[in-house]
Amino acid sequence: MEKIIIFDTTLRDGEQAPGASMSSPQKLELAYQLEKLGVDVIEAGFPIASPDDFRAVETISRSIKSSIVCGLARCINADIEAAHNSLKKAKHPRIHLFLATSKIHMQYKFRKAEDEILELARKSTRLARNMFKDIEFSPEDATRTERDFIYRVIEAAIEEGATTINIPDTVGYSYPQEVYSLVSDILENVPNINKAVISIHCHDDLGMATANSLSAVLAGARQVHCTINGIGERAGNASLEEVVMALKTRKDIFGGFSTGINTKNIYSISRLVSGFTGFPVPPNKAVVGRNAFRHESGIHQDAVIKKSITYEIMDPRDVGFTGAQLVMGKHSGRHALAKKLKDLGFVLSESKVNEIFGNFKALADKKKEVYDDDLIALAQEKTREGKKAYELISVRASTGTDITPRAEVKLKYKKKVCTAQSEGDGPVDACFKAVDKVAGLKGKLLDYRVEAVTSGKDALGEVSIKVEVKGKVLSGRGASTDIIEASVKAYLDAINKISS
Ligand code: KIV
Ligand code: ZN
Repeated sequence: MEKIIIFDTTLRDGEQAPGASMSSPQKLELAYQLEKLGVDVIEAGFPIASPDDFRAVETISRSIKSSIVCGLARCINADIEAAHNSLKKAKHPRIHLFLATSKIHMQYKFRKAEDEILELARKSTRLARNMFKDIEFSPEDATRTERDFIYRVIEAAIEEGATTINIPDTVGYSYPQEVYSLVSDILENVPNINKAVISIHCHDDLGMATANSLSAVLAGARQVHCTINGIGERAGNASLEEVVMALKTRKDIFGGFSTGINTKNIYSISRLVSGFTGFPVPPNKAVVGRNAFRHESGIHQDAVIKKSITYEIMDPRDVGFTGAQLVMGKHSGRHALAKKLKDLGFVLSESKVNEIFGNFKALADKKKEVYDDDLIALAQEKTREGKKAYELISVRASTGTDITPRAEVKLKYKKKVCTAQSEGDGPVDACFKAVDKVAGLKGKLLDYRVEAVTSGKDALGEVSIKVEVKGKVLSGRGASTDIIEASVKAYLDAINKISS
């Protein structure tokens, strides 16, 4: 079997999705979970981009032992040095250099001629070689680059020391057959290509990222870039769960390939990323959507009970999907909860488990039955919190068809209790305005969603919001059996990202 190297870029390209930013503790937690999932390469960030990015790559480098930790760099000396400095402590460091090679990018972005770009590729790879043994090089916008030029750039990068050549479909413009011929042509026309691994990096602007990545594998690529839940710049990247499960499920086509992914961890890491970024997983999302293994029609249900393969091409348990499994009630103990959380993929300190236990008991009092998804929501609430400047003590809201909606919130801020009241267009708006009064902010709500975590009238409601504060788009999430409380928690989760 040939191994397909899984290169996860959730922490870099994934985080480039507008509003998807994660805090440093969240990034570290996610890196641990990616390592546990079995990804071969973790692209931890773009170190030159900001001091926060630099620190995140540095911290992840110190903590991750088995996966390769990679940092992105333009073909600029300062970028390469920043990548080197941030990756110094990594056990297996890699630099990922990128440089645009398509006519459109060279002309409008760089205003540079082919020869200048070629020289830059050479110089930067040479510089990187003094600092790294493991060098990945990406000719950005590769799928719109002239063939002869891309061959020359790749040959030069390999000559200077690149060990992986990544082919980005930067704007998600390509089609599976085109990707197949591009990879095949590179294999045929670049004389030293046998000295490097070919990798593929696809965006989903036309919904073909997974198909294009798989097509590249068939043509000879042996590394695939992907992200959890397919998050990423614009329409996102190829999703890890789709690529991995397609390789595993379609043995008739991909039988000669394997990955090192522990697929049973896929569902929980998907929920973790969704919780950290505030991007809900669409119910119909392939592999990890809530409905991916649900059968609504009676005919389907009947057939699945008789023989699951009638309508199920994958075993849901293979991706860690246990359905609405009843886990515990109010008599369950702390040890049972700790074990369950561990099984769900959470790595938590004892004090965090204790905090979650308190919330679990409160929830079990309100709800007779507590399901896996309820626990995931509670655990995510705890792992989500980085710094927590504002904490909710209580909220009261009144509304009706013939009264003006009003709310009062009581918050804790640096050990001080602050209260504010406000009116609003609705109870949620009134609550947010009351929070704004306490925090001295003016948030503009861009998106608001509420979803029942499990079924039943006592289900936990999870609110996801996007809000613009001080010119920044922030995401937030909160869960409660009361959706007004969940809304305030989500709002605080968002503004806590910029408050100290
Ligand atoms: O999409 C892209 O081209 C990228 C590069 C940095 C590889 O993300
Ligand atoms: Zn990209």
